[in-house]
This record gives sequence, C-alpha cells and structure tokens, in this order.
Amino acid sequence: MAPSWLSALRSVARFRKLELDPVARRLRGAVSVEDMRQIARRRLPRGVFDYIDGAAEDEVSAARNVDAFRSITFSPRVLNDVGVVDTTTSLLGRPLPLPLVLAPTGFTRMASSQGELAVARSAARAGLPYSLSTMSTRSIEEVAEVCAGPKWFQAYVWRDRGLLRSMLERALTNGYETLVITVDTAVLGHRERDVRRGFNMPPSLGLDTIIDGILHPAWTIDFLRAEPITFPSIALSTARTDAGDPLSMADFVTAQWDPSLSWDDIDWFREVWKGPIVLKGIQSVADAKRASAEGLEAIALSNHGGRQLDGAPAPADLIAPVRDAVGDSIEIICDGGVRRGSDIVKAIALGADACMIGRAYIYALAAGGERGVDQLLQQLDAGTRRTLALIGCPSIAALDRTYLEGPPGPVRSSSSGS
Ligand SMILES: Cc1cc2nc3c(=O)[nH]c(=O)nc-3n(C[C@H](O)[C@H](O)[C@H](O)COP(=O)(O)O)c2cc1C
Repeated sequence: MAPSWLSALRSVARFRKLELDPVARRLRGAVSVEDMRQIARRRLPRGVFDYIDGAAEDEVSAARNVDAFRSITFSPRVLNDVGVVDTTTSLLGRPLPLPLVLAPTGFTRMASSQGELAVARSAARAGLPYSLSTMSTRSIEEVAEVCAGPKWFQAYVWRDRGLLRSMLERALTNGYETLVITVDTAVLGHRERDVRRGFNMPPSLGLDTIIDGILHPAWTIDFLRAEPITFPSIALSTARTDAGDPLSMADFVTAQWDPSLSWDDIDWFREVWKGPIVLKGIQSVADAKRASAEGLEAIALSNHGGRQLDGAPAPADLIAPVRDAVGDSIEIICDGGVRRGSDIVKAIALGADACMIGRAYIYALAAGGERGVDQLLQQLDAGTRRTLALIGCPSIAALDRTYLEGPPGPVRSSSSGS
C-alpha cells in the first residue's frame, strides 16, 4: 500500500501534458497582451522591440493611453440575464462580430517574416477589418490575395499626388473598402529609443541591431530566410528603379512628408476614393466637429499610439466629449491603449463605435506568428464577452455610460452610430 503522503500527493498533483510544439508551448503561457509583450521582448532584437514598443520623447502619451482605460471603473448590474451575450455591431455599414479593427502598422515584417500576410489572414478568420499601412512590407495585391475579410487601406497626405493616386487606385481595384487617412504626421515624432539606437523612421538597421540579431538567433534565422524587406505598396506605384532597396526608398519616403497639409487636402482624397473615409489622428473636440462638418464617415481618435506628439490626450479620455459634441453625425473609433476586452467595452460604453489595436497584434505576431494573432483576437473576443456578462449588459448595442462609474453625462441611444 502506498504511504499516505504519496496518496495525498497523487490526489493534488496535476502535470500538464508535455507540449512538443514550441509555438504552442510559448503561447500557452500568453494569457494577456502583457504576456505577449514579454515574449516579444525576449524574442526580438532589442532595437526591433523598441521600434514596436517605443513612443515619442518621454512616452507619457503612450502610457496615458493605457492608463486612461485603467482609470475607468464599471458600474456593474447583477441578476440581469446574460445567458446570451451579443458582441456584434456594425461599422461603416458593415456588420462585425466585435467592434474591433486592426490598425495600420508599418514594417510589420520586422516582428515576423510573414508580417502583414499573417495579420491579414488572422483578421479575416475573425471577421475583423485589417488596415494595410502605406508603409507595409507586403504589397496591396499580396495582402488582398490572402485576405478574404474586410480590408482597409491607410494613406498619408504625401506630396506626390501621382503616387498617392496610383496607390489608392490599386487599393480600390483590389477590394479595399475603406480609406484611412492618417493626419497626425505633419512631421515625424521624436522616438528617442529609435534615435538612441540609430534605428530611425523609416527604420534602417544600425550596428547595435545587427549585434542584437546575433543574440536572438530564432528571429535572425527567420529574418534572413525570408526575402528582403521592402516597401512594395509604394514601390509598385513609382517608376523608381531602386524600389527593391529599403534604404533608398526610406529617403524617398522621408521627402514625402508634407507639413503644409491642411483640410483642403481631404477634398482631393474625396475625388479619388469613392468609399468611406476614416480620418485617423483626431485629438480634439474642435477637429472632430470639423471632420463631421466636412462629411467624413468616421474619425479615429488617436495619437498614433503616443508615437508622434508626446503630451497628446489619450483617445479614451476624448470619447465622451467628442461624442457629446458630434452626436451621431460621424462614427468614432478609439485607437490607442486597447489591451483587453474590457477596454473595448469601456470605449463603447463611453460612446465609441469601435476600437483599433496596433501594438497588441504586433506583440502577438512576434510571440507566436499567425497563431499568436489568432490567439490574441480570441482572447479579446472572450474578454469582451466576459466583461459584458460581469457588468450585466447583454450586448454591445445596449452599452451606455450608465455601465460606468462617475458623472453619467448624456446617454447615447443604443441604436445610434451604426
Ligand atoms: C510599430 C508601429 C508602426 C505603426 N505604423 C503606422 C503606420 O504606418 N500608419 C499609421 O497610420 N499608424 C501607424 N502606427 C500607429 C497605429 O496605427 C495605431 O495608431 C497605434 O498603434 C495605436 O496604439 P496601440 O499600439 O496602443 O494600440 C504604428 C504603430 C506601431 C506600434
């Protein structure tokens, strides 16, 4: 007979099945965005991680974006049948399973060689819109080929209108349905982690990064095995012969930033783009009202994830005042600091129509490739459902400010904005 201590041990011992698949093993421990971020930090060369994780100057805005969500408290209701929770919504006339959009991020292949293709495939599986950046490292056409879901294209207001027009026409031809115009980049923000490492935007690899690469062999092997990184969305729209060279293309891109951009430039986009337009980078009530008056379909309250102006307001703090000022005349996307399903619930309760995520999916991509992004999107979906159930709200459509603590402010009708 086994000694009693051994029986006692047997009754409590639970050993996890040995996981032989290294990606699954890694992802098993990633139950939050912060977990994904920590895995990304370990796996990526420091310069690459800092390019993704970093922000402008003291990074106060980047931190505030996250803290603004944390400082919001729910006012939960109980005994409110939440046996079935409905997270569906509609954005720009399209039904979505969750009020979530994957934000445009440049140079996504720095996180993992599949880059934009992996993220676009994963977004399509989840039925969520994927926004392809102008600074993408996979082309408009390559992404369209693998992404059966809703596709958005992001543009900057660049000097070369011929180049812009050509990119927009390619996006339209390839089934991209919404244009995101990023307007918070009159000049580039000062990302000091990148500057310190010689990892500029547009990025070029410095000696530090190369040494770092040697210290992170899994990333380096993946990077070296893949075809060289370029900006194909831009390159295919220029007659330049050095389009395959990311560094000379980087100089070209730098010369395209136009500090003289103004509201008049938006009219030009209207002529070329026949679908809905989202103005991304709105940071004040006054500009939100102007965007609404200009007849734009949506705005993304955004400070570029804190990567442009440090000291910019957190998008979550702007939702309520902007919604109160614009009513239901324009759709509002909250972009920046979203790390959990509960953040999505808070944003919608305040008056947003949807949220965008940037870093969250890049950390996930770095942590586990396409499967990492799948896992992240499932976790955000589950987190949204769980939060709705815990606050006693049966659906996204029924959310309003009464589910939050603090001065209630005007309550939005649940049928608005979609
Ligand atoms: C690595 C990286 C690259 C980005 N590249 C672009 C870009 O090319 N165009 C753009 O409009 N925004 C870009 N952004 C900003 C995101 O679209 C988004 O506004 C931001 O990531 C939201 O904040 P979050 O990271 O806290 O979710 C980038 C962000 C990151 C982290």
